[in-house]
Amino acid sequence: MAYKNIKVDTKGRVGIITLDRPEALNALNSALVDEMAQAVDAFEADDEIGAIVVTGSAKAFAAGADIKEMQGKSWPGTYREDFITRNWERLASARKPTIAAVAGYALGGGCEMAMMCDFIIAADTAKFGQPEITLGVMPGAGGTQRLTRFVGKSKAMDLCLTGRMMDAEEAERCGLVSRVVAADDLLDEAVKAAEKVASFSLPIAMMTKESVNRAYETTLAEGIRFERRLFHAMFGTEDQKEGMTAFAEKRKASFKHK
Ligand code: HXC
Repeated sequence: MAYKNIKVDTKGRVGIITLDRPEALNALNSALVDEMAQAVDAFEADDEIGAIVVTGSAKAFAAGADIKEMQGKSWPGTYREDFITRNWERLASARKPTIAAVAGYALGGGCEMAMMCDFIIAADTAKFGQPEITLGVMPGAGGTQRLTRFVGKSKAMDLCLTGRMMDAEEAERCGLVSRVVAADDLLDEAVKAAEKVASFSLPIAMMTKESVNRAYETTLAEGIRFERRLFHAMFGTEDQKEGMTAFAEKRKASFKHK
């Protein structure tokens, strides 16, 4: 597949999607978002891929949705075409594990895209923000919802209402990112983490992801019940036998279902 706004690569069992509109700090126009959805589809269908890394450039993960593309839009057209929703959620609905590797700006839709991944590894240069209010709008791809679940009400309100940016250290402190690494090591670290995830049983990793995500969708009692059902079902897999037998035999597990 020939893409114009992203680059796609693989390293072992890891699929890497690199946002690639350097002239616009990787601003997310509809062509890019469509290509991203196609790349996610392709990696999801590829049995050789066990995890996906999404990244940008050293200067910007993505500086938001493309403001110049949005500028002339009007209501009710935005409502009729369900503007921005088309394909935006494809990354969030990926069933294989996804990691965002963020350096530089992750603003507006860029921050929202990073939050659609399962976890975020940030370079020490990363800057996160939801500056939509400075443009006369509000976040439209999960910024008021996912950010609030990540960092809590007070910090989400602060970011969405002031439009300010926060650096990597603050983002780690408030739980938006799982770890901060040196900028030069970002992609290596993210791929290493993805390789680790992809070395395990894929169906087990997928069910684990599904169960963690369920914590955001339901009550604790229902979430625990969901977790328990999946946990029980895992004892029907060869990978559970292999994982536990390997431990008992003091050897490295070799999972079959990848
Ligand atoms: C379109 C953008 C862009 C964007 C940057 N560019 N961000 N184009 N949409 N979101 C373009 C600039 O116009 C410029 O093009 C080039 O990229 C380089 O940007 P500069 O501004 O010259 O770079 P710099 O001075 O380093 O400033 C970096 C920046 C600034 C602080 C990140 O670019 C900025 O504030 N960008 C907008 C951030 C933002 O508001 N994002 C939220 C968008 S709304 P030229 O042609 O002049 O060289 C949003 C809503 C999501 O995301 C809703 C649902 C998805």
